[in-house]
Amino acid sequence: MKVSILATTLAVALGSVCLGTAANADPVDEALVIDGKPMISRAKAPEGHPFDEVLSGWLFREPETRALEIDSIENPGMLAVEEGETIWNTVEGTAGKSCASCHGDAAQSMAGVGAKYPKWDADSKRPIDIELMINKCRSEKMGAEPYAFDKGGQVPLTAYVKYQSQGEPVSIDLSQGEMQQWWDKGKELYYTRTGQLNLSCASCHEVSMGKHIRADHLSQGQINGFPLYRLKSGMTSVQNRFRGCIRDTRAEVPKAFSDELMALEVYVTWRGTGLSVETPAVRQ
Ligand code: HEC
Ligand code: HEC
Repeated sequence: MKVSILATTLAVALGSVCLGTAANADPVDEALVIDGKPMISRAKAPEGHPFDEVLSGWLFREPETRALEIDSIENPGMLAVEEGETIWNTVEGTAGKSCASCHGDAAQSMAGVGAKYPKWDADSKRPIDIELMINKCRSEKMGAEPYAFDKGGQVPLTAYVKYQSQGEPVSIDLSQGEMQQWWDKGKELYYTRTGQLNLSCASCHEVSMGKHIRADHLSQGQINGFPLYRLKSGMTSVQNRFRGCIRDTRAEVPKAFSDELMALEVYVTWRGTGLSVETPAVRQ
């Protein structure tokens, strides 16, 4: 069996004892349909993209994992969405308001919103994601404390807001403010090798995409399904996932919402342009 040098290095690096697991395998040729609603899990890549086709991580998962995502009743991530709905309607802070006091029915006011983030925020002169937009509303409109990373209601409320865009194709606007510069910075980081293992995001998710590493089938590392439910660790935010992958290369892990991780979030979101928002996706 022919095993590429990189895959061999990876398999060794990740502690695999069996190099045969570094075999290549195609993503499944199946359509993702959630509760009867078709999702876009393969899309023609935007101009300048390293792949011809952008592929959802769902196509790389085992049949049992894939099955959990196609039915909301079975999807364990839906519990977080329900928790998010409760928070949406809960009054908090000195202004005596809930999210619903201003935004009403999320199914209407938040429809499609999650597919367009990160977005340029003119006030902070940075891109912000849904997590930070929620914090902005909490501190500026509700007189409530912003959530600390992955704490309080941050993950379930983000999942609830993003769920309102389920099925919508990811599309971010790079023409606003300095979004293009953040994209450039994110791209640079994506291709920079770091850590003791000297690997970049691209080493695994581009060069080795499709390879089997231990029990994992390497996907394109898309973020259209976040926050998502991981069978091994429960609900997981995008930046938590980034941090985990960086930790696996034994590099120093940047802080959540740091410039580095935000630039990566902008760039990686763009790499998934055209894929449906799948929140809450289910992964291994
Ligand atoms: C006092 C009214 C008020 C409350 C309460 C409030 N918001 Fe907002 N929110 C706004 C306004 C006004 C905007 C648009 C202006 C802006 O971007 O600052 C906005 C924008 C947003 C956006 C971005 C919408 C878009 O189209 O990009 C999201 C997401 C959001 N709010 C979520 C929430 C959540 C979740 C809560 C509860 C934690 C909340 N908001 C509480 C007033 C409010
Ligand atoms: C040593 C290899 C390796 C490196 C380097 C790596 N990852 Fe990963 N990553 C994985 C594996 C294995 C998985 C789980 C299987 C999959 O979805 O590819 C994963 C999953 C992901 C996912 C979840 C995909 C989904 O569908 O849920 C994202 C997002 C991701 N990686 C982003 C990144 C980013 C950004 C970087 C660079 C900062 C990076 N990864 C670096 C191995 C790596």
